[in-house]
Amino acid sequence: MTILAFPAELKPLEKRCAVLPVNVKAYKLLGATVLVQAGIGEHIHVTDKEYVAAGAEIVTTRSELLAKADIVPSLHKLSVDDLSHVKPDTLIVSYLDPFNEKGFVTSLCDKNITSISMEMIPRISRCQKMDALSSQASLAGYVMVMQAANQLDSVLPMMMTPAGTLKPAKVFVIGAGVAGLQAIATAKRLGASVTAFDTRTVVAEQVQSLGAKFLHIDLGETGETGQGYAQALTPEQMLIQQREQAKCIADSDIVITTAQLFGRKPPLLIDQQTVELMQPGSVIVDMAAENGGNVEGTIAGEIIQHQGVTIIGTGSWANGVAKHATQMYANNLFNLISEFWNKEDNVFKLDIEDEVQSGCIITHQGQVVNAMLKSIYAANNSSTTDKEEA
Ligand code: NAI
Repeated sequence: MTILAFPAELKPLEKRCAVLPVNVKAYKLLGATVLVQAGIGEHIHVTDKEYVAAGAEIVTTRSELLAKADIVPSLHKLSVDDLSHVKPDTLIVSYLDPFNEKGFVTSLCDKNITSISMEMIPRISRCQKMDALSSQASLAGYVMVMQAANQLDSVLPMMMTPAGTLKPAKVFVIGAGVAGLQAIATAKRLGASVTAFDTRTVVAEQVQSLGAKFLHIDLGETGETGQGYAQALTPEQMLIQQREQAKCIADSDIVITTAQLFGRKPPLLIDQQTVELMQPGSVIVDMAAENGGNVEGTIAGEIIQHQGVTIIGTGSWANGVAKHATQMYANNLFNLISEFWNKEDNVFKLDIEDEVQSGCIITHQGQVVNAMLKSIYAANNSSTTDKEEA
């Protein structure tokens, strides 16, 4: 019988977890044994009793839980100490941030642990139900608008009252991917006047279908990767974007930046001079704050003021709606595990040739097996060697 063991999350202030009682029931129906660490759902008000009622066994000692596991699904990656308790050949499934966590990936290889990175689930139709980047980004889009509205000293909708007419707030969303589109939809629902920009002009239609305006900036050739991600702009294109969007930023009450480049540092979209064009009292939300920021001066984890403009860099956005975020993440995990579950043998069927698994399995039998990651590590190695030789 395959044992799935869900540890509590160790990251400070994290409220989400990787399993709800409803998922426990579903895993049991597959034929798995489910262990959860005591207190796993306490931050979202789900008690151990509810997990037990759904069929889980509670394990109090973390090392004991990990030692029993065949599969360890979690939200954030395990600690290096955790790895010393996990058996060789255990499958761990979580966010791994493999591009930036080469040391951790090496530890996984050293311990012979098979690992799946939730960030690397391919962006194809078959995988939408497993796509945690999308589920959490969508909630992030909502939370960012809520946080901005909270900081703004005016309302978002137009209000015509006997005491006078209030104009709708102007919201500018930069980056209209999953998070950006949800931010646009949320701000529209609250009655704001919304404009958006993205380097992938294919999204103009999606922006307009939500009732927002698309800011057209002629950047020449931009394009997207096979997986639908944006290509990085050239420095010249970045300057054109910054120049052309400045007027819209200056004119906005709220600016929400959601621009990301897969596997790379997010682009710097707004410099300090442009922040200073905004009216005092206006608000910027920088979704990329924790990874370097889209906005000059953002501080990760903080809300700061610059010349009267509030810049929100809180981060961990989906954690702001932790119960729904857990529901979606836990479903993504279940959909991934059940997709490859062999009901006859009651095991997760590993197949590194499979289109989905080859995209997201990072390590197996002591090796990095992911083709994209291998090429990025190799490129980084050669650029380090070049620097050393120079
Ligand atoms: P992301 O988080 O990597 O980037 C967010 C947005 O920032 C993207 O729309 C990107 O074009 C934009 N961006 C990058 N540089 C920018 C710049 N300098 N200025 C303005 N915007 C900039 O992307 P996300 O949201 O994870 O998804 C991107 C696309 O991937 C989706 O729109 C969709 O086409 C595709 N996708 C496909 C899925 C599937 O088929 N399963 C699931 C989710 C997304």
